[in-house]
Amino acid sequence: MNAPLQLPVEPLIAEEATIRILDQTRLPETAHYITVTTVEAMWEAIHSLRIRGAPAIGIAAAYGLVVAAGTSTASSRSALLADLQRAGDYLKSARPTAVNLAWAVDRVLQHVEASFEPDIPALKRRVRAAADAILAEDRAAGRAIGEHGATLLRDGAVLTHCNAGGLATSGYGTALAPIYVAHQRGVQLHVYADETRPLLQGARITAWELQRAGVPVTVIADNMAATVLARGDVQAVIVGADRVAANGDAANKIGTFPLALVAHALGVPFYVALPTSTIDLSTATGADIPIEERAPHELTHFNERRIVPEGVPVFNPAFDVTPARYITAFITERGLIYPSFDTGLADAVAATTEKNS
Ligand code: MRU
Repeated sequence: MNAPLQLPVEPLIAEEATIRILDQTRLPETAHYITVTTVEAMWEAIHSLRIRGAPAIGIAAAYGLVVAAGTSTASSRSALLADLQRAGDYLKSARPTAVNLAWAVDRVLQHVEASFEPDIPALKRRVRAAADAILAEDRAAGRAIGEHGATLLRDGAVLTHCNAGGLATSGYGTALAPIYVAHQRGVQLHVYADETRPLLQGARITAWELQRAGVPVTVIADNMAATVLARGDVQAVIVGADRVAANGDAANKIGTFPLALVAHALGVPFYVALPTSTIDLSTATGADIPIEERAPHELTHFNERRIVPEGVPVFNPAFDVTPARYITAFITERGLIYPSFDTGLADAVAATTEKNS
């Protein structure tokens, strides 16, 4: 049976002359789009999590280069390439952990550099074509991740952390994609969403998009996950990733690692869903993944009210690294990857590179 499915609204809408971004900091109260007209505004939107989630910030950076091309006054190929390179380096500095950001910038720049076209408008069209291709491929990847991941699911509950849904990508999402596809096929699923301190992506965003899609969802505080898993009715934990190293160590939203430990201890399968653009074969292990540290204000204040005494320091890493040994399998657009992960991850990247070349 195919249940009707209302996919989440798009986090980024690329029209002919306008790039609009859903301001996710305002969810769930308001679904408000902002128009991005400068590279600085795109950097700010990524840095302040107006758009967030690894694939979505890659897409945003690609369209940031479209904005850079549109505003560049360069009159030669080399001057345009220099403008794009500068904008690309700047956009990459917005957030360090999700590899999709740098991956998307490099891919757009390579696509432009590959052309020896001296015509400036033609080169600018190549920037747009590369960004459009990244968005379309991500949408297709989400659907394929959903198809592969849905084979793992039966009636029952699933637990997820942060938001790795449509609002973190350009369509079905990654961790939520198998849930959407299974739901569409009539599998009776119930999702537990960790609220995800400190910025509450689970409570504000995952719960919002699942509710809109008609998938039953219950929000829990992060420190309730062990209690929920111990009750025995959760068939799987599915999370997304910001960067997966060559050996399978996976960086994702802070709180993912303790969740993996609990799942391991209680015998609950722990899946990481991701497009191959999130696999970074040049990073050998999780120890080499740069972890973003965010402003103390995110921890010291709640709803603009101070909750930590003045003068007390806080530690605010935005991501943690789950060692590969706690991961049951990766769910990618190329299929499921089981241990040992190194060969499977490398093969998946090679298959995608071959398809896109
Ligand atoms: O800080 P955020 O909200 O960008 O963190 C997002 C996550 O950690 C997601 O799980 C990850 O990017 C995968 S999104 C498909």
